[in-house]
Amino acid sequence: MTRDLGSTGLRVNPLGYGSMGLRGPRTWGVRVVDDTKAEQILNQVLDAGINLIDTAPDYGVSEQRIGRFLSHRRSEFLLATKCGCAPVQHDDHLEVQHVWKPDVVRRNLDESLQRLQTDTIDILQFHGGDADTLCRAGLIDLLLDFKRQGIVRLIGASSRGTELAGLIALGVFDVFQVPFSCLAPEQRPLIDRAASAGAGVIVRGGIAQGGPDAEIQRPALNDVWNRAGLDEILPGSMDRAELILRYTLGYAHCHVTIVGTCNPEHLRQNVRAAAAGPLADELQAEITARVAAALSSGVT
Ligand SMILES: NC(=O)c1ccc[n+]([C@@H]2O[C@H](COP(=O)([O-])OP(=O)(O)OC[C@H]3O[C@@H](n4cnc5c(N)ncnc54)[C@H](OP(=O)(O)O)[C@@H]3O)[C@@H](O)[C@H]2O)c1
Repeated sequence: MTRDLGSTGLRVNPLGYGSMGLRGPRTWGVRVVDDTKAEQILNQVLDAGINLIDTAPDYGVSEQRIGRFLSHRRSEFLLATKCGCAPVQHDDHLEVQHVWKPDVVRRNLDESLQRLQTDTIDILQFHGGDADTLCRAGLIDLLLDFKRQGIVRLIGASSRGTELAGLIALGVFDVFQVPFSCLAPEQRPLIDRAASAGAGVIVRGGIAQGGPDAEIQRPALNDVWNRAGLDEILPGSMDRAELILRYTLGYAHCHVTIVGTCNPEHLRQNVRAAAAGPLADELQAEITARVAAALSSGVT
């Protein structure tokens, strides 16, 4: 079960995998996943038929782990990583910084290829940045050059808001990575614009960090869920994370959503949810309408 990634010519399973949770110790957040669990979940991802994995040089040891644990299965998946990353490792945490200079982007690519144990990056994305800065620094031309050399197959940007609008307008990117879910739908018009221009759309945050039942709670997203009264329309057979994920996957301009999980049971649930297909049209429309009303009421 694959779909077109826009007009890029690549085919993707609509459920992808985001590997930020595999960043390891001395990074950020409340959970540290060890090597054994990282190896298990990465292989489970491929065994489930997921064929796009997203990572970044500033996700701690995520790239190394993908290289160590999956390089022998490299032909089974598309690899998306990022550039413009200049993380600073402190004793107890990783500070994420982005620097828009050619030497940083070249170093990112060289080091990503080594860590990921591969000759080719399928999708190289700017990890933020605005059109003006990236153009003036010569970075768009640099990525196009990587593409001409065949080291990178597609170029993209992970972005949102006015920066994303400016990047779409350049007309040079194959792919955009954009946050979207029924609980955080703000980027929808830009997703539509990118997809209508033929770009591939990679959605992140597509399960809304697990929604109200998540182990790591996100009060702002729970608040949207509650204000929209989504429990009232949640089918009895479905849990909240499934509803959120199937809504994202059912959105026509979401070509793939890179859900992050480090929990094998959650991964199995997400694979089942994706296989169940889109929500009924009326339910999808009702969720959209209720969330729009809740967000426009501005009540907190
Ligand atoms: N600026 C950027 O470029 C940027 C920023 C953020 C993220 N990303 C990329 O996007 C990926 C996903 O982003 P995200 O992690 O922010 O959003 P997400 O995929 O919506 O949320 C991940 C969270 O959802 C939980 N979860 C997943 N499936 C679940 C289920 N069935 N039930 C309950 N909880 C579930 C996971 O916890 P468990 O481990 O407990 O399942 C995890 O904490 C990242 O890994 C990264 O690759 C890119």
